[in-house]
Amino acid sequence: MHASLIEIEKGFAEDLEQVRTKTDLEAFEETYFGRKNGRLGGLMKELASLSGEEKKEMGQKINTLKVDLLSRLEIKKQTLLGALLEAELARETIDVTEPRLPPVPAGRLHPLTTLQTDVEDFFSRLGFRILSGPELESDYYNFTSVNVPPNHPARDMQDTFYIDGHPDWVMRTHTSSVQVRAMRQYGAPLQMISVGRVFRNEATDVRHEHTFYQLEGLMVGKDISFANLKAILLALAKHLYGEKTDVRLRPKFYPFVEPGVNGEVTCYLCKGKGCRLCKNTGWLEIFGAGMVHPNVLKEGGVDASTHTGFAFGFGFNRVAMLRYGIEDVRLFQSGDLRFLTQF
Ligand code: PHE
Repeated sequence: MHASLIEIEKGFAEDLEQVRTKTDLEAFEETYFGRKNGRLGGLMKELASLSGEEKKEMGQKINTLKVDLLSRLEIKKQTLLGALLEAELARETIDVTEPRLPPVPAGRLHPLTTLQTDVEDFFSRLGFRILSGPELESDYYNFTSVNVPPNHPARDMQDTFYIDGHPDWVMRTHTSSVQVRAMRQYGAPLQMISVGRVFRNEATDVRHEHTFYQLEGLMVGKDISFANLKAILLALAKHLYGEKTDVRLRPKFYPFVEPGVNGEVTCYLCKGKGCRLCKNTGWLEIFGAGMVHPNVLKEGGVDASTHTGFAFGFGFNRVAMLRYGIEDVRLFQSGDLRFLTQF
């Protein structure tokens, strides 16, 4: 047993020499002082087989050895951790003389996105659902369901893109395609808006694009009146263009509303006095609206004998152009940073 004391001490010194990292250190501690199979622990267990005097003597020797080894271990620990820390600090040194990298330009939201968030926020607070629908739409939801049956002349109002080999599919021409989808899903009463992209077969110029955005609104219930429609439109116009803004409604035909109106807001440039922008009328046209046609309610599964509703559709790019003073609708999709970074 005395021999193994000497062996352990020798091994300890040799092994300690080899400790270079924290992992080494942990393994080393486990080998000598580990609770289960540590070498010193092993010696203690052997003590049990000795008797009286011998046991006492060996016990003391083991303890003296243990105290000695522990203090050597402690010294090693301190020097090793100190060295590791220094190495780490050396690695982390920052060279303050190094030239700075050019700043990464931060992206920003597209003006239409900013406006969409703003408008959705406005309608959420009035209790409207915020919905969306597919851009590749069935002929049914885009036309037939909103009272524009096949071969009806009203189809000519919106020339769209059809899909080769799929005569029943269209790129939706308006967000009114969401009306019947929404009624079927949620039933009445219902109040919702939907902002999204729409497509038309158009020659492009400063006012026309083949791809643009619309804001659709629909409210269906038992006592929904034209006055409700006007109140909502006026509140939105004031929210977008300021308290002094007024709304003017004039009769216009849309197949999915009866009566239908064409909506204008006070020209933001001349404040209604008349200028080049509003062609001296003082008004700017930005939406269509009206009371939902009974045929559309029926398609939506809503009882048209007990329910009424209103709907409106805004040219959303137009809303943004008037709000931010943008003069060419094609800029929205230009991807031109000179345009985009202004917002
Ligand atoms: N969908 C119509 C359009 O795109 C706008 C509209 C919506 C008119 C709802 C009335 C009611 O021109």
